[in-house]
Amino acid sequence: MDFATRIADWQARHGRHDLPWQNTRDPYRIWLSEVMLQQTQVSTVISYYQRFLERFPDIHSLAAAEEEAVMPYWAGLGYYARARNLHRCARQIVGDWGGRFPPDAASIATLPGIGRSTAAAIAAFAYGERSPIMDGNVKRVFARHFGVEGDPARRDTELRLWALAEAQLRDGAGPGVDMGAYTQGLMDLGATVCTRGKPLCGACPVRETCVAQRDGRQAELPTPRARKATPERSTAMLVVEHEGRVLLERRPSPGIWGGLWSLPEFDAALSGTQACAQLGVETARVWALAAFSHTFTHFRLHVKPWYAIVTQRPAEGDRPRQWLALADAAQAALPAPVRKLIEGLSALRGAMAVDAH
Ligand code: ADE
Repeated sequence: MDFATRIADWQARHGRHDLPWQNTRDPYRIWLSEVMLQQTQVSTVISYYQRFLERFPDIHSLAAAEEEAVMPYWAGLGYYARARNLHRCARQIVGDWGGRFPPDAASIATLPGIGRSTAAAIAAFAYGERSPIMDGNVKRVFARHFGVEGDPARRDTELRLWALAEAQLRDGAGPGVDMGAYTQGLMDLGATVCTRGKPLCGACPVRETCVAQRDGRQAELPTPRARKATPERSTAMLVVEHEGRVLLERRPSPGIWGGLWSLPEFDAALSGTQACAQLGVETARVWALAAFSHTFTHFRLHVKPWYAIVTQRPAEGDRPRQWLALADAAQAALPAPVRKLIEGLSALRGAMAVDAH
């Protein structure tokens, strides 16, 4: 049996079958799940996916909504450009495609934020199209099985991997293979068997033809990325409280957390009192809160949070603002680490009688 057939047969017997986005051919649902799954793990995605679909059950409801109404359903999932692109895609599909999802991988790949692999996965699941995928996990499966040397993030290595992926579906290879099962099988194999550390080669349907298994090179393939030190940035965040309400600002997009609500930020060297002075307000009380760090794809952010009770509201700023009670602020479309900070404060504030004078 050839590669694709062994993978598809294995998926049918041992792969995942009851994820909420399986057992449908609705391209809207498949598209939503694939975008959510691009950089977020299955266990996190499930509840977001269900909540999103309850609010936006089809492409028309999503296209009709304002971007601002969509962001709360993404808050906490990270990589917020995905949500903005999702919304743009919905409007494009309604505007340019008459509300019908584009009919093949090539046209799906013209939508904002959808790359070749995601487009192929959607077309395979929704239409059974014979288009190969090549995401992070699948790169590992192919690099090991076909013994492809070189960092898969490099363009030349990636092109060799794509060529191999195409070859598994061409010239009579994988004849009549169930493309949904093959595509899901590659993903499932990468996630559960051909894992980065300690792969479970005994359970692998393609072990007999795997170069890495034959040569005992599972730890060397795929070739690890040349490590660069992660850049670091620091910022001060201010929880400004006035008359029981705290100030949130909308983050500009593009940019990290673009479109989400967050706390005002200042130069990390400023104290809470100095930060309030920059806002143009006087403080009644200031506390330093516990510092924390958050890792993004390209840098690590060190956050020094302050909590200040101020004597008046500052004048309007450049960004949209809202003043919310702490408990309501925790419900806003916040990035996950800011939500955690506010939830912690909300619990603390509830247990504390603060003398603001
Ligand atoms: N990651 C990306 N797409 C996926 C899918 N369809 N199932 C599980 N994990 C995935």
